Amino acid sequence: METYLQEKTQHIMPITPRPDICFIKGDGHYLFDQTGKAYLDLVQGWAVNTLGHSPTVIQQALQIQSQKLLNPGPAFYNQPMLDLAQTLCQHSVFDQAFFANSGAEANEGAIKLARKWGQKHKQGAFKIITFDNGFHGRTLATMSATGKAEFAPLFEPKVSGFKKVPFNNLSATEQAVDNHTVAIMLELVQGEAGVVPANTDFVEGIAQLCKQHNLLLIIDEVQTGVARTGSLFAYQQYPITPDIMTLGKGLGGGVPISALLVSQTVSCFDYGDQGGTFNGNPLMCAVANAVLSEVLSPNFIPHIQEISLYFQQALINLSETFDLGEARGKGLLLALDSGRYSAPEIVHQARALGLLLNAPRENTLRFMPALTIDKTEIDKGVAMLHSIFSSLIARAARR
Ligand SMILES: Cc1ncc(COP(=O)(O)O)c(C=O)c1O
Repeated sequence: METYLQEKTQHIMPITPRPDICFIKGDGHYLFDQTGKAYLDLVQGWAVNTLGHSPTVIQQALQIQSQKLLNPGPAFYNQPMLDLAQTLCQHSVFDQAFFANSGAEANEGAIKLARKWGQKHKQGAFKIITFDNGFHGRTLATMSATGKAEFAPLFEPKVSGFKKVPFNNLSATEQAVDNHTVAIMLELVQGEAGVVPANTDFVEGIAQLCKQHNLLLIIDEVQTGVARTGSLFAYQQYPITPDIMTLGKGLGGGVPISALLVSQTVSCFDYGDQGGTFNGNPLMCAVANAVLSEVLSPNFIPHIQEISLYFQQALINLSETFDLGEARGKGLLLALDSGRYSAPEIVHQARALGLLLNAPRENTLRFMPALTIDKTEIDKGVAMLHSIFSSLIARAARR
């Protein structure tokens, strides 16, 4: 490691293993490290940079808004906040938005709102059904809601009131409902679990369960929202009308903003129940407005649908050539089962070649490129993967 990195990294709290590189610049589909080396980025800040690195529209939105107003405080309206709430409500089934700074914070708000609604409208019902391998964030309540086995022993005692059931299993979900249940909360594509889509029958059945038992349907679209799966919101691909939806990641195109969206009938916070110093600040809302105006332009979503098919076919071809596993996902939230090859090892080799990938599981590679990606970049990334698998095979043959 270079000396200057060595000296400085010791002051960063080690919460994740980080490679010995420091990114200096981003441009579209590429990141550049301290040596000037370029990396084709198919991770994009974990599905965050909707329009790629430092797009002009975000630069402009930041510049214009920063010259006007940074933060009047969350207890006042501001123009970008009003515009953003209106756009999100006009393009969804929801009536009101609360803005926050991270996906976990939006989900924490969803959990609080469901409990408040249970107190007001369902005799104090408070339990929320969530799913094995689901991921909802790293605050104490959202870690408690999360179904990652690794989280189970951490930070005990957790927030109580979450009942976890197997994903895509309707009868287990039905059996988990009791008189104290207030809501069912799920991702429509479990991202951190390795890109596992929810079956349509399962989601439809859950929506019916919610109607039957007077439960709130909470959809966590922190990863799937803002066109990531090929529709503005993933719930639009299922025959459901959620009561609550959370957004994060792609909404800000790289800056921290998230949203909690609700229908009028469910909105029930009293003054003081929810808030936060930076919530709805005009700088971040102006960026989200700029992102949405691109995403809502006529050719944007059709491009994702088209390029998704191209990318999926390229992954299927790779799988057939190297005898790997399934290629799956929706839109530009895709995964490839790396079969007998270790996905973290592939990520490591790819980075050395100048390709950034993610491995949420031992045998899963995840692809979350900018939604503006085109065939040229996909071909480049797939060619690099091709050479990695070829060298892994050659290495195995030498043993
Ligand atoms: C589905 C889902 N919910 C919530 C979160 C947490 O979001 P954040 O990391 O912004 O708190 C994530 C992050 O990966 C996520 O994928």
